[in-house]
Amino acid sequence: MRRCSHVRRTGATGYIGGDALVEIVQAHPDWEENITAAVRNSEKGAQVAAVFPKVKLVYGDLDSTAMIEEEASKADIVYREFVMTRPYD
Ligand SMILES: NC(=O)c1ccc[n+]([C@@H]2O[C@H](COP(=O)([O-])OP(=O)(O)OC[C@H]3O[C@@H](n4cnc5c(N)ncnc54)[C@H](OP(=O)(O)O)[C@@H]3O)[C@@H](O)[C@H]2O)c1
Repeated sequence: MRRCSHVRRTGATGYIGGDALVEIVQAHPDWEENITAAVRNSEKGAQVAAVFPKVKLVYGDLDSTAMIEEEASKADIVYREFVMTRPYD
């Protein structure tokens, strides 16, 4: 069995990201407690927690550069699935 110690992900409340989270946890139930999901506010966090109570939540958005960098630095896998809301600079 493959092991994974830390997964960081964004877009967990979205269509693709939500489905991906379901698939990941169904395929690897033991990973749930090692998954961290970035959400934009406590309402969105509650939606994730209602389905995945073991998933750790961090709060922020596309502009939360420090949070994204810190969380990514701790991850074995980073899964990004949020909407790109601005053009590339
Ligand atoms: N659905 C498709 O068929 C499809 C096909 C090809 C490509 N894509 C691309 O895949 C990506 C996801 O699509 P989707 O259908 O899953 O979209 P979605 O259902 O609208 O989900 C978007 C996700 O991004 C988050 N998000 C939006 N703006 C954000 C911001 N400024 N900061 C942080 N998070 C933000 C949303 O969080 P909240 O819940 O807080 O709003 C939500 O979790 C998009 O880039 C889309 O263009 C989608």
